[in-house]
Amino acid sequence: MAIHNVRFGRDGGSLSSVAETTSRATAVATAPDAVGAMASVGELAAVNLSAVPLLSVRDLNVHFPITRGFILQQTVGHIRAVNGVSFHVNPGETLGVVGESGSGKTTVVRAVIQLQRPTSGSVVFQGDELVGASSEVLRGARRNMSMVFQDPYGSLNPRMRAGNIVGEPLRAHHVFESKNEYLERVAELFQMVGMHPGVASRYPHQFSGGQRQRIAIARALAANPQLVLLDEPVSALDVSIQAQVINLLEDLQDEHDLAYVFVAHDLSVVRHTAHRTAVMYLGKIVEIADGDEIYDNPLHPYTQALLSAAPMPDPVLERKRERIVLTGDIPSPANPPSGCVFRTRCPIAIDDCAEVVPQMRSTGSLTQRHEVACIRVEF
Ligand SMILES: Nc1ncnc2c1ncn2[C@@H]1O[C@H](COP(=O)(O)OP(=O)(O)OP(=O)(O)O)[C@@H](O)[C@H]1O
Ligand code: SF4
Ligand SMILES: [Mg+2]
Repeated sequence: MAIHNVRFGRDGGSLSSVAETTSRATAVATAPDAVGAMASVGELAAVNLSAVPLLSVRDLNVHFPITRGFILQQTVGHIRAVNGVSFHVNPGETLGVVGESGSGKTTVVRAVIQLQRPTSGSVVFQGDELVGASSEVLRGARRNMSMVFQDPYGSLNPRMRAGNIVGEPLRAHHVFESKNEYLERVAELFQMVGMHPGVASRYPHQFSGGQRQRIAIARALAANPQLVLLDEPVSALDVSIQAQVINLLEDLQDEHDLAYVFVAHDLSVVRHTAHRTAVMYLGKIVEIADGDEIYDNPLHPYTQALLSAAPMPDPVLERKRERIVLTGDIPSPANPPSGCVFRTRCPIAIDDCAEVVPQMRSTGSLTQRHEVACIRVEF
């Protein structure tokens, strides 16, 4: 067997040779398949060789044109909603994506499923390149990848009954042989999300926010996908209902071996669900790490500020909590700052930050990876 076909790690990067691996170990790690800086030959041996990413996103850009003029429209600039984003998702895992409003989270997931065509970059899902793909390839991909939209009130057609909404992907992908089979599957989907199938004849306005989100989740699971893009699935819900929906999502993941991209406003929502967490700022991922690493050892000043803003359940720790208050608003993605996009709000910015675009650098080990884009972080 040619050694370059060997896959390794949670991210399944290809291993060409130990020599190449060792040289990459010291390189700046912009790609998820780069080997962590502390990787050793011994560690490589301990890594699972079978994992291949389900989804691999490379250098994704989504730039919306800004136009002027009525009859003769002219492009006078671009909103850089997503700017050079790279990440991967392994089968059965949850990638949390966190960032302030306007950081580009929704645009990233919409570009992954190609509801928003990217300006450039690569989105490989189950081995197929989706950027520029034919409608046939996209149809196949959308059967195995689905999305729960940010707004549970706006994302369900108010004129459709809940049963028809949940069964929509079954009809779109023709994944049933008879009407009975279709109805049984719809009933099963309601049960999967903890709802009585008898509610199938009701309209969306007859449900609470939490129930609507369950219907949206049932619809997303209808065609048995492997990856579900969850765009702030609990942000619009009451806190008590949020926990129920998160528990439901976790149970469904375990039962059906689902992978999630879980978008949230704040780190506390994804802390206990995500296997890996990415922090976005102004269209870029500024930090990404496995497990609890990003919470226990945040390296980027923006992540540190986000974490310092999260209230602590322990009242003693809560009193001692030191908040890093970021001044100013998130800049316009139409006119991002030069160098590091965070520099206008960064408490530790230096002159170089206006000149140098910080690249993702990797620390940690193969089993506990941690990447950060800040020139002042020293490993
Ligand atoms: N269709 C569009 N045309 C022009 N600009 C857009 C479009 N969609 C999004 N944007 C801009 O792109 C940037 C990122 O938007 P996006 O909705 O992806 O952010 P977000 O992180 O999901 O925010 P939120 O937390 O509020 O949902 C914003 O400045 C937004 O105004
Ligand atoms: S590169 Fe500079 S401005 Fe950006 S986060 Fe690091 S210190 Fe702050
Ligand atoms: Mg959004």
